[in-house]
Amino acid sequence: MKTAAQFFALRTLVRGYALLGDPYAGVMASPPDRDPYPMYEKVRAKGDMVRSRMGAYVTPSRAICDSVLRDNRFITATFDEASMVPITLVQDGEKIVNPVQDSFLMKNPPDHTRLRKLVQPFFTPRALKDRTESIKRIVTDHLDRLGDRFDVVAEFASQVPIQVIADLLGVPDENKEIFARWGSSLAETLDGVWSHQQLKNLHATIIEYNDFIDVLIDERRRDPKDDIVSHLVTQHEDLSREDLVATTGLLLFAGFETTVNLISNGVLKAFENPHTVAPLSQSPEYAEGFVEEVLRLDPPVQYTIRWPKERLELAGVSLPKGMPVMLMLAAANRDPRVFKDPLKFDPTRSNAREHLAFSAGIHYCIGAGLSRIEGSIALHELFKRFPHLAADGPVTRRKSKLIRGALRLPVRANETKRSLAVK
Ligand code: HEM
Repeated sequence: MKTAAQFFALRTLVRGYALLGDPYAGVMASPPDRDPYPMYEKVRAKGDMVRSRMGAYVTPSRAICDSVLRDNRFITATFDEASMVPITLVQDGEKIVNPVQDSFLMKNPPDHTRLRKLVQPFFTPRALKDRTESIKRIVTDHLDRLGDRFDVVAEFASQVPIQVIADLLGVPDENKEIFARWGSSLAETLDGVWSHQQLKNLHATIIEYNDFIDVLIDERRRDPKDDIVSHLVTQHEDLSREDLVATTGLLLFAGFETTVNLISNGVLKAFENPHTVAPLSQSPEYAEGFVEEVLRLDPPVQYTIRWPKERLELAGVSLPKGMPVMLMLAAANRDPRVFKDPLKFDPTRSNAREHLAFSAGIHYCIGAGLSRIEGSIALHELFKRFPHLAADGPVTRRKSKLIRGALRLPVRANETKRSLAVK
């Protein structure tokens, strides 16, 4: 485990490189609440494959991001390999499973294929269609609870996805509140652990999560219901505890820590573009295009990383085995060679779906369809219920460079004219 002094040295090194204009360090060292998009444009101005002194390449090109994601000569690595988070925790002789690091998101074929297949049936278009009515009910129930002034994130944008994923997994209602805390702790560290305190919080969260999921698994073994955990324990009895805990945890955290930001980023985009509010509140089809454009212009997941498993050529650059390539998904979504007038927020844009907000290739987000439904219903119904929704104070951003969204977004339901102050 790293000492406090090692964390300090790492932070100082990365900040130093960032000051020298290094693109990789620039992403890692930028204050999480700062608008990252101007920095991405600086990287774009340097080219399609920009070398970092930290031993990595960075690409803002949509074409290169897409081709790397679909190229089986590139792999995902565990955090250990990426020297980001040194974690293999053991308690009472049993491995404490990290729901991100040990999950199929971080695995390569054949393990990735085997594990992804187990949960795929819950995300088919048919399965999602069957869920749509219950998502509408969840959205309406939460809207009914809102008063004149509320925090969009705490009282709506996080509540809806948490309820949806809890129902899907079979997590009892009373456990939902704790997810928001675990989710924030995990999300904060997805782009690396930068302090001893962060590492301690992360360990505490992972241990709590393991204890929680072990109890749920036992319950569902005794009394199976119609949910993912019951399906895994009854239909795939040979699944190891590690795979079961990690797969469930990945769905749980990926299922709400991202969609909450889609909804809050959508509310912000509506405030910035008031002409979109009326059609958004009137037309479910417009809401679908609106969500797609939010995903393109302000995606909840800003980047991902891949490692070549052999020496290879990429866009004229010779990449040695193991050299990380940072794929700047959020910058790729603004690539002017693909998206005309890329900074314009246009919910009727015909090729918005070419964005890479859900990645591509074998790790393409399994929950893309679900979050599209959640996002468009949530935003449509929110503005239908509150057509004069307006900002009611400064927006606080999440403390993560990888995950972009609001932490607090205070609003008033009935005020038409208030200025928006985004920190
Ligand atoms: C707006 C919402 C969402 C966004 C922006 C998002 C984004 C992403 C991205 C970018 C990846 C791939 C990362 C990479 O290639 O390295 C991913 C993977 C994944 N997402 Fe999502 N996601 C969202 C919602 C969801 C939901 C609702 C669920 C589940 C209910 C989910 C489950 C997963 C899983 C299981 C993976 C791993 C797929 C694999 O490795 O095969 N996501 N997501």
